[in-house]
Amino acid sequence: MYNISQLQDLINKAIAEKSYPNNPIELYEPIRYIMALGGKRMRPALLLIACDLFEGSIMKALQPAIGIEVFHNFTLVHDDIMDKAPLRRGNPTVHEKWNDCIAILSGDVMHVQAYQLMMQVDDSILREVLNVFSETATGVCEGQQIDMNFESLQEVNINEYLEMIRLKTAVLLAGSMKIGAIIGNAQPEHAEAIYKFGENLGLAFQLQDDILDIYGDPEKFGKQVGGDIIANKKTFLLIKAIELAEDLDKEELTYWLNEENAKPEVKVNAVSEIYNRLGVRQLAEHQMNTFAEKALSALEKIPANADKKNALRVFAEQLLIREN
Ligand code: IPE
Ligand code: IPE
Ligand code: MG
Ligand code: MG
Ligand code: MG
Repeated sequence: MYNISQLQDLINKAIAEKSYPNNPIELYEPIRYIMALGGKRMRPALLLIACDLFEGSIMKALQPAIGIEVFHNFTLVHDDIMDKAPLRRGNPTVHEKWNDCIAILSGDVMHVQAYQLMMQVDDSILREVLNVFSETATGVCEGQQIDMNFESLQEVNINEYLEMIRLKTAVLLAGSMKIGAIIGNAQPEHAEAIYKFGENLGLAFQLQDDILDIYGDPEKFGKQVGGDIIANKKTFLLIKAIELAEDLDKEELTYWLNEENAKPEVKVNAVSEIYNRLGVRQLAEHQMNTFAEKALSALEKIPANADKKNALRVFAEQLLIREN
């Protein structure tokens, strides 16, 4: 059995060893930059863990796992353009350090490279793996578009929000784990169960991301605190606040959502105070825990080594108390 930090070392080493052409430098330098900034590397870790859970070969899963991380980093580069984000992993975003065109094109080539890495599986499972990966990638784009559409809508309900985060975030965790399971030669029903585990973990993970956007420690968070408030993102907290606010809170919240010339820090402070008064953080935490429990009950159904399942449970729990 591998422990998770060994798997992470393997992932980091494989990422560090990957080289990129030098020409044109504007295309490849941003890839080196974003990949070297680190991050939690949790999607490739989950892929390897899923493969190992079914007693598959970690080495056979390593290149696809790196493919998942390259894909994830591509989505971050494009997400930061869309969200007008200045900071990523404590450093300037690619479009800030270079420009939007460079960020778009470097992201495009990362997407292609992700496929090349994903193709490095046995021929017998190639079509199935690429199919899961393609469905996953399409889901992420759908979720990202819905997320953008919601910025200019006032009325978004919790179910619409949950479907949006399922697509933009959860399907990638789920798809990573399913690919790991396929490489590990899992039975289809078990690959489905690990998909459900990943999906529910992903929903919980995005709720935590929404919470950290406001309540994260700026020193540790690595992203602009309050970015979601500035962009009128329909996070769980904002949707709940719109639902619960009355009288003066309601008037104030409506004002900030419609005030186009607001000073960012003033708006973030004012909206956070409304959130505090309404207690929406606690509601988001409760929803997050509900998804975490669902994930764990999907894991129960998988007949795998108890120590391995327990290590996965501990890893999942750590992800939900993270600070970045
Ligand atoms: C950020 O993902 C995007 C979301 C789905 C919230 P991570 O929080 O996994 O980012 P890194 O890779 O660790 O930086
Ligand atoms: C994450 O959404 C979804 C993707 C990057 C695909 P966010 O926009 O909330 O992610 P962060 O907070 O910028 O990492
Ligand atoms: Mg976004
Ligand atoms: Mg973003
Ligand atoms: Mg976020």
